[in-house]
Amino acid sequence: MEIKNLVRKNILSLKPYTSARQSHLTGILLDANENSYGSVLENFTSLQLNRYPDPQQTQLRQSLGEALNIPTQNLFFGVGSDEIIDLLIRVFCYPEKDKVIVCEPTYGMYKVACDINGVGVINVPLDQNFQLDTEAIKKSVDDKTKIIFICSPNNPSSNLIESKQILELAKELNVLVAVDEAYIDFSEHGGLIKQTLEYPNLVVMRTFSKAWGLAGVRCGFCAANEEIINLLFKVKAPYNMNKLTSNAILGAIKNISKRNEFIRKILSERKKLEKELRQREKVLNVLPSDANFISFKVGNPQKVFSYLETNGIVIRDRSNQFNFVGYLRVTVGTEGENNLFLKKLDEIL
Ligand SMILES: Cc1ncc(COP(=O)(O)O)c(C=O)c1O
Repeated sequence: MEIKNLVRKNILSLKPYTSARQSHLTGILLDANENSYGSVLENFTSLQLNRYPDPQQTQLRQSLGEALNIPTQNLFFGVGSDEIIDLLIRVFCYPEKDKVIVCEPTYGMYKVACDINGVGVINVPLDQNFQLDTEAIKKSVDDKTKIIFICSPNNPSSNLIESKQILELAKELNVLVAVDEAYIDFSEHGGLIKQTLEYPNLVVMRTFSKAWGLAGVRCGFCAANEEIINLLFKVKAPYNMNKLTSNAILGAIKNISKRNEFIRKILSERKKLEKELRQREKVLNVLPSDANFISFKVGNPQKVFSYLETNGIVIRDRSNQFNFVGYLRVTVGTEGENNLFLKKLDEIL
């Protein structure tokens, strides 16, 4: 399939802004109207915060590429995966004309990003096991359909989506298949990053906000074929990855053992929490989780949510989401947090 046939014509012909730091990162830099005297933040002198960052994200891509064993040219970094979701829509979808498929219940930002960009959203619901209805998806695709967003493990149902089905869609359909693997580190599946090298229309997004514990840093990335990566570079804000973020992420990539330690702890707490929730008669269902959260069903979700909130415990009421009636979603916290949550849950149940 030809990716360029899916891209908005104005993006294909776009002459992107050429930023100063694209051509020169060192030298006597008098080209970008920066402050040559330094920055007011004296703690960060080695980062040279008075200078704009590298628009090509060179170090980040090299470092992550080595860690994942993926070529540098197949990686792109965004201000959270939320930025990448928005960029994909802007590269591929004409406002007021094109459409995106989402499979609800799922992460709400796909629809919000479409709504902001004036792009139509078609909901092809997940089946009763929260898996893709591939036949229905195939039937829904027409020449205006540009992207299918698939969240695996899915938020809020917490299950992995069968990769065979995802790859079948990527193989058979002339659309972009964008897989959001924000929670993949908590699952037993290695994810589909490597498959982006085989499938020209497959994009896999990941984030540093979950297992890496860096939600405050705002950094996500995606892997895809070079053509798609180049289009994202064309459209992004010139300096989207700032030096503080890059420095934090480069440090994080070197400390993968800490991430793995977090994952071990979270998985052990998830197992305990899942078991505890299942033991409660008034908890009507507990969905098996491949993520760092658990969705569970109760008779009166609003009441439970409010009671917990009044007691300082904030979970997420997902009971208004499509095909998710009655469900609340709780993030796996520390042992102490989880015990307190269960104690207060018992009081209201
Ligand atoms: C499925 C999913 N994708 C993406 C994100 C956002 O990721 P980021 O913090 O990288 O923007 C979230 C946040 O909760 C999420 O649940």
